[in-house]
Amino acid sequence: MDIRLLTNADLPLIQHANLENLPENYFLKYYLYHSLSWPQLSFVAVDVSRPKKGPYDYPKIVGYVLAKMEEEPSDGVPHGHITSLSVMRTHRKLGIAEKLMRQSQLAMVETYQAKYVSLHVRVSNVAARHLYENTLGFTNEKVESKYYADKEDAFSMRLNLDEIKKQIEAGENNGDVEEDKEHEDEGDAVGEVGKDPGQTAEGKQIKIALGKRPALGVGDLVEKDDSK
Ligand code: ACO
Repeated sequence: MDIRLLTNADLPLIQHANLENLPENYFLKYYLYHSLSWPQLSFVAVDVSRPKKGPYDYPKIVGYVLAKMEEEPSDGVPHGHITSLSVMRTHRKLGIAEKLMRQSQLAMVETYQAKYVSLHVRVSNVAARHLYENTLGFTNEKVESKYYADKEDAFSMRLNLDEIKKQIEAGENNGDVEEDKEHEDEGDAVGEVGKDPGQTAEGKQIKIALGKRPALGVGDLVEKDDSK
């Protein structure tokens, strides 16, 4: 199983998974809004173990977390929000949802210095409530009466992210996510702005570091030279 960042090419498959798994559905543009506005926060779980049947047989997406930053937080505190999370029935109870959630939480702290993450969950959703309350440690802030279209109540939950921040500072949390090799930009440099910072004028490769430091989950990257 591969947990990696969501790309725009994944969006139709995410939408499909959402339609399969949840009654709360969204227009494609809402997914795009997430991936364009906060590209670091949403992740997919891909079943890479399935043998490829042909060139157009893409690995199956079996789970996703769609997340964002609250744009105008009413309390003035920067925080993330889980818009939607689901895992296909065939792949449940394998720890995929937990892993997706932890990756998103880590990215919220690393990228946006989020102080906490919030979400809504149906009061009747036993599986999701177990994940949020028992596995991840969310607490229930309040009940939002008739929150859903069918008038079911929601628990408004949140998780303080201080612990993750401390782990990052101590270099303990290195939730690595694979680089997306398939969608790597391999285009030529355009003008001064597009020059590759990983290459010297003589075309020699140099190492460049991404992220604040390797312990944050994004290690050193050696730029690939495809011309050779
Ligand atoms: N009943 C009780 N506990 C469960 C259940 C269940 N049906 N399913 C999973 N759990 C527990 C696991 O045992 C595990 O507990 P542990 O840490 O004590 O061992 C914990 O939940 C996490 O398990 P995962 O394997 O990580 O969860 P999974 O990958 O199966 O996904 C999910 C859980 C996302 C809730 C899945 O059941 C699902 O997709 N459901 C339908 C969609 C849904 O309800 N999404 C959440 C809506 S809320 C929102 O989107 C913000």
